Amino acid sequence: MSIAAATLATGNLVAFPTETVYGLGADACNADAVARIYSVKGRPSDHPLIVHVSSMQRMGDWAEEIPEFAIELARDFWPGPMTLVLKRSSLAQDFITGGQETVGVRVPDHVVALALLEAFENIGGKGVAAPSANRFGQVSPTTAEAVAEEISEYLNPADQIIDGGSCSIGVESTIIDCTGDAPRILRPGAITAAMIEVSTGIQVAKTISDPNLGSVNNSTEIISDELIRVSGSLENHYAPAAKVFLCEIPTEGQGFIALASIQTPPGVIRLASPRDDEEFAQILYEALRQADIKGLSEVVVTQPIGTGIAVAIRDRLARAANGR
Ligand code: TXA
Ligand code: MG
Repeated sequence: MSIAAATLATGNLVAFPTETVYGLGADACNADAVARIYSVKGRPSDHPLIVHVSSMQRMGDWAEEIPEFAIELARDFWPGPMTLVLKRSSLAQDFITGGQETVGVRVPDHVVALALLEAFENIGGKGVAAPSANRFGQVSPTTAEAVAEEISEYLNPADQIIDGGSCSIGVESTIIDCTGDAPRILRPGAITAAMIEVSTGIQVAKTISDPNLGSVNNSTEIISDELIRVSGSLENHYAPAAKVFLCEIPTEGQGFIALASIQTPPGVIRLASPRDDEEFAQILYEALRQADIKGLSEVVVTQPIGTGIAVAIRDRLARAANGR
């Protein structure tokens, strides 16, 4: 890991595995290195990046006025699939926060990611800025091969891709805004609203409009301007080249992704048959990628209906179905 840490320290990029998806990392204090993330991804530069650190003790380097409930969340769920949005410290410069007064911080739960972050901190690094290692708007990569397919043509010889196998969770971290009186979910993920409420004892300010979520958000309109700044909240994100349909019965020649309990109609190309919602999240992006590799023009996905990680799956699928 010391070679990869040195790669970061010299201003180059390292794509690395996390438990959610692969990240494209750069030294979060180096404006030029961070600028290269944006050019490799083809991403607008006013979209903020998540800073990855090796432990919650490092959260105070990047954030100020951290509320008690954020500390409880960090204790309960880090290392893990959760990003906390906090008031930024002076370390979090505009090229990280997109000019906002907040910063996103995460401690990933992956041996390779943690080893890389520790090695980088041991040679003086403060944190690694890392978006998902895909081109802007595309499906996030959950294997090193998918990273290479997405971005290798845009990397320099000094950049690196670390292969850590398949990501165990498969959808991006839950992003929680901790700058108000109550935690507010900006992007659903494996850490659910119910888990946040148990951890903090505070009712989550709901912002996700999901028909299966029981209590439906009533403040989306008020905050929608801010939400634009969360690039993952764009309505046409996470989209493969194939057109994605959600509420249809698949017909001949179409790709199909559904729980194993649902049968494949004749002539339909089954792309994945996960046994439960966790496995659904884990294989989803790879299955969408397979649709493109197989040259399919249409994919039907039967969405899981649960309230756990299924909320995050439906969130990403709704965006994928909006197309690019
Ligand atoms: O699971 C993950 O979070 C992965 C892995 C690599 O850690 N990272 C990831 O990064 O998904 P990215 O950049 O693809 O998505 C992060 C989202 C973006 O939509 C960004 O706008 C939002 O987090 N974000 C970052 N900082 C923020 C802030 N200060 N306020 C609001 N949203 C923020
Ligand atoms: Mg992303």
